[in-house]
Formats: sequence, C-alpha cells, structure tokens
Amino acid sequence: MILSYIYNILKFKKWELLFFATILFALKWPTIITFRPNMDHFIELHKCPACFGTSACNYIHEVNITLNDFYSAFSYFFGVKNVFFGVFNKNKVVLKKLAQSFELNEFDRMLCENKHFSHICTKTAKAANNKLNINFLELIEKEVNLNFSKDNFSRLRLCPSVQHLNNLLQHVYHNNKDIDPKILNLNIWVLTALNPEPLLLQILPAERNWPVPKYLGACGRMIIEEYVGLPLATYYNEPWLCRAKISSSLLDAAYMFTYKNKDFGFYLTDISVDNIAVDLNNNVKFVDLENVIIVDKNIVPAERSTIWNQLQVNTEDFSCSECLAFSSAEICNHKISDHNYYAICKVLLALNLNSSILHGGLLHDIPTDILETYPNITYLVEQCVTPQISFDRIKAGMELKKLLDIILQKYT
Ligand SMILES: Nc1ncnc2c1ncn2[C@@H]1O[C@H](COP(=O)(O)OP(=O)(O)O)[C@@H](O)[C@H]1O
Ligand SMILES: [Mg+2]
Repeated sequence: MILSYIYNILKFKKWELLFFATILFALKWPTIITFRPNMDHFIELHKCPACFGTSACNYIHEVNITLNDFYSAFSYFFGVKNVFFGVFNKNKVVLKKLAQSFELNEFDRMLCENKHFSHICTKTAKAANNKLNINFLELIEKEVNLNFSKDNFSRLRLCPSVQHLNNLLQHVYHNNKDIDPKILNLNIWVLTALNPEPLLLQILPAERNWPVPKYLGACGRMIIEEYVGLPLATYYNEPWLCRAKISSSLLDAAYMFTYKNKDFGFYLTDISVDNIAVDLNNNVKFVDLENVIIVDKNIVPAERSTIWNQLQVNTEDFSCSECLAFSSAEICNHKISDHNYYAICKVLLALNLNSSILHGGLLHDIPTDILETYPNITYLVEQCVTPQISFDRIKAGMELKKLLDIILQKYT
C-alpha cells in the first residue's frame, strides 16, 4: 500500500520532485561550500604509531580544505576516493588517506585480531610505544617480496631480491632521521601494506626532477603532497602542439623511470589518464604511485636469470585491445623492461580509433601540414605500441620524443 503510494508519487510527480530536489540542492550549496570538515576525524592521530608518520602534524590543521568544486565536494561527502584538495600557505595541496575506508577498516581489524600486532591495535594499545618488539624491517621485506602468484597486483614490489632494500629506502631514512627507527620502520610497514605512494615520493623526489608531486609530509593516517594540476584526461581537446608537448614529457618520464636511477628500475603498473596530472608547463606528473614494480639492477650474478641482460619485451594481447597485459614475474627476470614505454604508448598514445578512453590517442588529429612534413610520427607511435620484430619499442619511443621535440621547436 505504502509502496504503491510512493510509486504513484514517483510516477506522476517526477517533475515536481526534480524541482524540489533542485531547490534543496541550491539551498544546500552554500552550506556545502562553506562547510569545514573536521580534520581530526580524518587524521586519526590516535592510530599512531600504526600510521603514516607525524612529520606534518605541526601544520596540517592550517591546511584549508576546499570543497568548492564538484569533485572535492563529491569525494568528501561520499568518501569514495579519500582524496581532498586544499590550500596551505597560498599553495594548492592534496591530502590523501591513501586507501578507501573499507581497506583502512580491514587493516585495523587485522591489527586487532592478530596477536602479534594487538599491542599496536588502537583499541587495546596502552603502552604501544615502548613495546615495539616486532622486527618491522623483516615485515617490510616480506611485504615487498610477496609471491606474484599469490597477489599479482599488489602495491610495491622489490625484485628479484630484497637485498638492497636499505639502499632503496635511504632517502626515507634520511628524511626521517629524527624519528625512533623502530617507529619509522613501523610507519614504513603500514605504508607498504596500505599504499606506498609516500615512500615512492621520497625515493624519487620531485626536487630531483622526478615527474611526481612534491611530498610534504604525513600526520596520522593522512599525507600531504603538492597539487600539480588537472588530470591528463582533461587535455584531450587541447591544441595539438600542447598535446605533443605532453606526449614528449610522457616519453621522457618513461625514460627516467627505466634508466635514470642506476640501481633500480621503476615500472608503473597503473598508468591511466586519471593517474597522471599535467602542470602549467605541460609537463606530466604521476600522481598515483600505489602500484609499482621496482627492479634491483645490481643483484649478484648468482641470482640472475639466464635472460637477465636481455631486454624484457611486452607483447600485446590481441584478444583484448583495451587490456594492458603484462607479466610482473617477467619484468622481474630482466635488468631492463620496456614496460613503461609499452604502457604509455599503448594506453595513452596509440592512435586507436576504437579506444573508449582516448579515442585516437593523445596525439589524435595531427595537423595536415605537420603530418606531411613529418609522416614518421604515426609510424613511430605504432612501433612503440606494437614493434615489428626488427624494431625496438624503447628506440621507437625515444625517436618519437626526439621528433616531437623538433616539431615543438619549429612551431612554438
Ligand atoms: N598531487 C596531485 N595533484 C593533482 N591532482 C591529484 C594529485 N593527486 C591526486 N590527484 C587527483 O585525484 C585523483 C585521485 O587520486 P589518486 O591518488 O589517484 O587516488 P586513487 O588511488 O583513489 O585513485 C587523481 O585521479 C587525480 O585526478
Ligand atoms: Mg588513481
């Protein structure tokens, strides 16, 4: 009876209902944009030391969270992404809880239910700080060394061996040298288990020209990083030369992650138009560093596979044109992989008219005069996506970048 009454209202009064919903939303809008979220609720400092750190605690309350754009309001009120935008000292910043609420709850539940961790479970922890007897460094090693067959996609991997983990984390230890090493290792372990992005932002600091946002610090279960700009997805309709500059910067990033560090190669396994942002100079920055495979380039000869020195070449899965198929185990078996070029060319640059995400790729609609003078562009993009046997994907990507830079120099 009641249900049929509601059904009738919905059926016959939908325009009135829509009208009232619009009025209600309009009336609520000032509340939404003047609303100030309760920071303590997000920071969850009481979860420390099972948290991300405390380096930003002395200023995090001064960050002004902005909810005056649709995305921020949506992410705040519906808590889908747990990513917030704000302003600190007149600079735009991003605050991240690094995981969705259900993942954080699951992690806390695991801490409280596991007898080894119950002393850092916030519900039972009274003397947590002076009872840290667990060797968290061992747990970090275990976390970054998980067997791919058990969990092929998880977060940060250091392979083929974790013998140089200390070297990998040297900047993290240096940046936090005032913190009790036991607490620091616990913080690092929490990050490897939930989301290693802050570790990556310190291993590959923006200050040393890595294409990532600046890391500003952590407080409790919240981190702060520099806001770099709008996501790559919003640049699809920009003028071609602007997109050519962005593409050149993407190929530069592929080079850096693969070669710039002589000790480790960084392979990004979640490359998408949302996880890359573009700064005011049309340079790209990778803003979601949750899933990365790190290959130790200096493992001892005894641990090297017979194919260690051969380039690892990714092959496309032709049965699924939208998929980015790759094998983590294969990447780990080689000193160098073409994965970064493969992912960037296939996901972002491929001139694929069937792509539902980037129809025709980022370099779509090449101006005719440019195409006539430089017909090689399309060939090099194709070779970077699917190289012919005689061609090397990395070489194609490098040549494409060189060509784009020549065009940019001539036309800008
Ligand atoms: N440092 C940043 N600068 C600019 N935008 C960012 C930054 N970090 C995240 N974003 C934006 O927020 C979105 C969600 O952040 P992300 O870290 O990718 O969260 P999730 O892991 O939930 O995907 C990104 O797609 C991007 O548009
Ligand atoms: Mg993301």
